[in-house]
Amino acid sequence: MVLQRIFRAVIMGPPGSGKGTVSALITKTFGLSHISSGDILRSNISNKSELGLLMKCCIDQGQLVPDDVMSRLILRDLRVMDHSSWLLDGFPRTVPQAEALDDAHSVDTVINLNVPFQTIKQRLTSRWTHLPTGRVYNVDFNPPKVPGLDDETGEPLVQRDDDTPDTVTLRLKAYENQTEPVLEYYRSNGVLETFTGTETNMIWPHVEAFLHKKLFSVKQKVA
Ligand code: AP5
Ligand code: MG
Repeated sequence: MVLQRIFRAVIMGPPGSGKGTVSALITKTFGLSHISSGDILRSNISNKSELGLLMKCCIDQGQLVPDDVMSRLILRDLRVMDHSSWLLDGFPRTVPQAEALDDAHSVDTVINLNVPFQTIKQRLTSRWTHLPTGRVYNVDFNPPKVPGLDDETGEPLVQRDDDTPDTVTLRLKAYENQTEPVLEYYRSNGVLETFTGTETNMIWPHVEAFLHKKLFSVKQKVA
């Protein structure tokens, strides 16, 4: 699908709620560019820079990377996408990050995946990731065609260092304390749309229908 105008969206939800999985479906269906803060951080970490080491330390402890580092990193990437439609996954994660984003770009819609914490804990321990692209698999839900290998490149899949049960608990705490207030921020701006469920397959048709409607009515306004 080719969009008629620039459209900017954010996808939110607790760790393991399916942001990466749903983002892949959105980008494939609607042609937005996907920017994942986690994937950007992991690629910085693999470069082994000093900043990368600081980021790895935060992530492995289930803590957020400091706001100024994060905002600089993401806003720099967005600056070169001035004429593109995008979907931001994992940013903003705190109110100061949401304010920094607002200062630079307006956001058309925020998709919030509301998935129970019990579902999440079990999912993350069976997730396998292709680190260079951020493509995710799950041994129970969407396994790779060949166990342990990425479908597209045939390269090995890994389990993320922060997917251990103890770190997942800390990430969920950080989400409650620092990210839930961002939902309130967007709710009061009138752009928040929440989708509740335990299955990505059940949530996706609702997200797809919502975005179709949103993009169609935007086109109507332009015409
Ligand atoms: P990030 O990489 O963004 O991790 P996250 O938000 O913790 O989210 P995940 O990527 O773990 O999960 P997801 O919601 O994308 O779910 P997925 O589709 O993979 O960030 C990592 C870290 O970086 C943070 O903890 C923080 O330290 C730092 N960071 C990042 N952004 C930051 C920021 N803005 N500020 C500060 N620090 C920041 O799905 C999960 C699993 O479930 C998969 O295995 C999937 O296949 C499976 N699944 C999906 N649907 C189903 C289903 N129906 N049934 C079974 N399994 C399913
Ligand atoms: Mg993700």
